[in-house]
Amino acid sequence: MKAGGKRDLVSIDDLSSDEIRELFRRADEFRADLRAWTHVCRGSIMATLFLEASTRTRLSFESAMLRLGGGVITAADVTTTSFSKGESLADTVRVVGGSYADIVVIRHPQDGAARVAAQYASVPVVNGGDGSHEHPTQTLCDLYTLWREKGQIEGLDVVLCGDLRYSRTIHSFAYALARFRANIITVPYPGFEMPAHVIERLARDFGVSTSIASVRDLPGFAGNDKGAAYLTSSRPHQLALFTKLSEVDVDHIDAIYMTRAQRERHHGETIEGYPRIDREMLKSERMRDVRLMHPLPRVDEIDYELDDDPRAIYFRQAAFGVPMRMALMAFLLGAIELDARPPEHVSSEPGLRFPVGGPRCRNDRCVTNGEGRSYLPLDFRLVAEEPPRVGCAYCSAEIETRFVGSATSHCFHAWNAPPVRRIRPENRVYFESAEQARAAGFQEDAELAGS
Ligand code: NCD
Repeated sequence: MKAGGKRDLVSIDDLSSDEIRELFRRADEFRADLRAWTHVCRGSIMATLFLEASTRTRLSFESAMLRLGGGVITAADVTTTSFSKGESLADTVRVVGGSYADIVVIRHPQDGAARVAAQYASVPVVNGGDGSHEHPTQTLCDLYTLWREKGQIEGLDVVLCGDLRYSRTIHSFAYALARFRANIITVPYPGFEMPAHVIERLARDFGVSTSIASVRDLPGFAGNDKGAAYLTSSRPHQLALFTKLSEVDVDHIDAIYMTRAQRERHHGETIEGYPRIDREMLKSERMRDVRLMHPLPRVDEIDYELDDDPRAIYFRQAAFGVPMRMALMAFLLGAIELDARPPEHVSSEPGLRFPVGGPRCRNDRCVTNGEGRSYLPLDFRLVAEEPPRVGCAYCSAEIETRFVGSATSHCFHAWNAPPVRRIRPENRVYFESAEQARAAGFQEDAELAGS
């Protein structure tokens, strides 16, 4: 399924921190004269498969490829493709990401779809946004812009504001901010808080600890009466761990990253009093050096009168999309090499395979419950051991699996029963309940049944 050696960008985790830094330096070179690089990818073809609306992402990718001297083929309107006839994503990318194009950029409404494309295409695949899951190239642009503005990421206090639940740009950006040791202050629109699995991962993988604080501590964020969570890294040589936002020096906020309500992913919720940033709010002393960021499109979250304020950098974020994506594509196509080492694991590697009848991803927006339901193998990763939790390898949503079976004996046990230690890790199969294990043809261990 997966060609050996190719690099995909499905999640921001697919690039190591050193690679990201090196790509920033390459983007600087490209940016110095955007017109000087038409020899870099001459003869290469990029396919953009966009099954959801896009302006900046698709056009900046296409502009970047043309500036590198390559060509572009595009399917930007799903009604004119064979998707509308019911063709699967797997079949489409097998063909497009085979002989038609040397690299594929995909945007898809279902969480985890980019990973499907990466699995079935023999050429590199770039995630241009998969449902509410991730948007790693937007994160590269966001991080690059912030880095250019502030000279560093480490130690910055960054507010993430708005629809944190469905904004894929927020999820990828939060992982990157935590990795580069910035502090994250979340100010969600009530009911649209950061998904639990994102917060859990920030804690587990990056040592970020969470505390809930009263929104009174962040006055000016109109429409938020529920609470803000302050997340900060507890690793050594980081900012001290705060337990309450009121103890935090928020006198200087380095950046506010605003997002629109992702209405296309809502279920008819009424949006009233969505946070909005205006000139009045930026008058506060704490906002003196703030950078106002937004992945765009803006709907009504930032007053137009702020556009000329030097602290508003959202149009710069969009403009930097071209040199940043030039650097990324030149790298993925092998036209430039990086000295940095790749990450140890990449998100398109297979995880744990599950028997029919075993757990399914509980995210109804996941591609394994959507267009891939009939053909995708269920695939999870073990993300925590006590008690075991598995994360869907496609959309990253997590489930607790309190029963563990052996793929060789077809016996299962409670996760903390002694026999579990004797099952080799590669033979362990995880279940949410005893009923689920039985449905998958596993037998209850005698010890457990007797207890
Ligand atoms: C974002 C997206 O599509 O996730 N847009 C973008 O790519 N710049 C943000 C959004 O649509 O709100």
